[in-house]
Amino acid sequence: MIKKKLDSSFFSEIKKRRTFAIISHPDAGKTTITEKILLLGKVIHKSGTIKARGSGKYVTSDWMKIEKKRGISITSSVMQFYYKLHLINLLDTPGHEDFSEDTYRIITAVDCCLMIIDAAKGVEERTKKLIDVTRLRNTPIITFINKLDRDAKNPIELFDDIENQLKISCAPITWPINCGNLFQGIYHIQNKEIWIYNKNVKNNKEKLFFFKITDLNDDFLDKKIGKESAKQLREEVELIHQCYLSFDYSFFLQGILTPVFFGSALSNFGIEHMLNSLINWAPYPIYRKTNIRKVEPNEKYFSGFVFKIQANMDLKHRDRIAFIRIVSGKYTKGMRLLHVRTRKYFVLNDALTFLAGDRFSVNYAYPGDIIGIHNYGWIKIGDTFTQGEIMKFIGIPNFSPEVFRCIRLVNPFKQKQLLKGLKELSEEGAVQIFRPVLNNNLILGVIGELQFDIVIERLKEEYYIEAIYESINIITARWISSIDNKQLNEFKLKYVANLAIDGNNQLAYIAPSLVNLNIVTSRYPNITFSKIREN
Ligand code: G4P
Repeated sequence: MIKKKLDSSFFSEIKKRRTFAIISHPDAGKTTITEKILLLGKVIHKSGTIKARGSGKYVTSDWMKIEKKRGISITSSVMQFYYKLHLINLLDTPGHEDFSEDTYRIITAVDCCLMIIDAAKGVEERTKKLIDVTRLRNTPIITFINKLDRDAKNPIELFDDIENQLKISCAPITWPINCGNLFQGIYHIQNKEIWIYNKNVKNNKEKLFFFKITDLNDDFLDKKIGKESAKQLREEVELIHQCYLSFDYSFFLQGILTPVFFGSALSNFGIEHMLNSLINWAPYPIYRKTNIRKVEPNEKYFSGFVFKIQANMDLKHRDRIAFIRIVSGKYTKGMRLLHVRTRKYFVLNDALTFLAGDRFSVNYAYPGDIIGIHNYGWIKIGDTFTQGEIMKFIGIPNFSPEVFRCIRLVNPFKQKQLLKGLKELSEEGAVQIFRPVLNNNLILGVIGELQFDIVIERLKEEYYIEAIYESINIITARWISSIDNKQLNEFKLKYVANLAIDGNNQLAYIAPSLVNLNIVTSRYPNITFSKIREN
């Protein structure tokens, strides 16, 4: 197929798009920051619209019944809005402790990530895992260190923590002046501005106060923030100039350096600095790889891939929505598309765009945008859509589950329905199934525990099956491959009790402990034990 390019007006549509996701450990402030970003984008007009955990109200992306029962957000939504002439596609990632594989896969569909760190806690476990996923595509990361209005770790300590634990260099863009009760604001290193924090100013209703300071040694600084704070700021800024890299755009694009901002999301302080830089620095949609070639966004023909499937977005319709990230070309209502896996053409008349829980029919969409397609099960995660070219986007994987259980039927005669239900749920990415080679157990694996409850609930409501779980001694799974057939066969014989076939008929090693996994991997160096499996 000829890679015909579209004109400059099409390219300007691409260039104005920023598709990103927020990653953080639960409670670091993702929901609060999302809300402030939506306020800045004028999507919402007052605080409290998004965040309502524990208050009886629900965040706007709470679609499913189980979410409402628990009062938490577990599914991810997409929000599209304008900010300063840029079109933002913000992909929401479940941030609760019980988040799912969706969270990981969403990261593979964005062009940039905003990482939020709680200033009192530093790098936490979930953040580490999410950053590991960004490494698959070397996604650029912007960092926001939150909650400076509370007692916080020393900023240098926080930088060391990020650099050591996440293996990414920090380039400070803003720098805090004290913290907690003494928090006075930030120094914007690039703009040479001091922004004064006023704890009585909430949600940016009043204009924030700032002043230019071209020379930090100017006495004016002492007058404005006090002698002690001015002295400390001078010392710290001198130190950071010596110890940290200044912002290098190409390092940022390679995901090896992160610009760092400080602030307080609750008081809407520092978010605007971060967002203004994000629209300038986050890359606009670029090429993606397929099994045969790179696809550039400004190619004439439409292409895209499915990174998420959401069931029951509308309980009245019992449908599923496949979320497609557009990679190239322009979606136009009524266009004829090829579903590459099944080689079937269809006319797409009712693609959807999203604003949190609300969905609207869309007439046009461009690379970087996310569109939704209604379907009743014929679309799978990882599917590619084109206007005729036979190719498949790569890099939308399954991730090794982190918790496992054995599922059993209450009524054993419904085995067929159970398998059908589990197959469909696994195609949505809600759960992964493993069937041991040596017995008839059905093992389910998920990233967050809550998915187990969702599976039981959905089996009951949608497939009329009652099932229960039993615990099982599995800590992790690895997909197996090798070109050394001799070693592979020897391994299969010796460890047959630990082998299972997953829902995609791939061989996996299910490990009872990490020690066991380490022993086995070191014993069989010619076998690849992979944490991810391409769809
Ligand atoms: P999450 O989505 O990452 O889980 O975090 P979320 O925004 O829900 O924030 C977790 C808690 O931290 C919330 O308090 C929130 O108000 C608070 N928080 C977020 N940003 C800041 C900040 O900049 N400063 C301070 N002091 N607190 C912040 P909560 O008590 O759990 O909920 P709520 O009752 O305040 O809603």
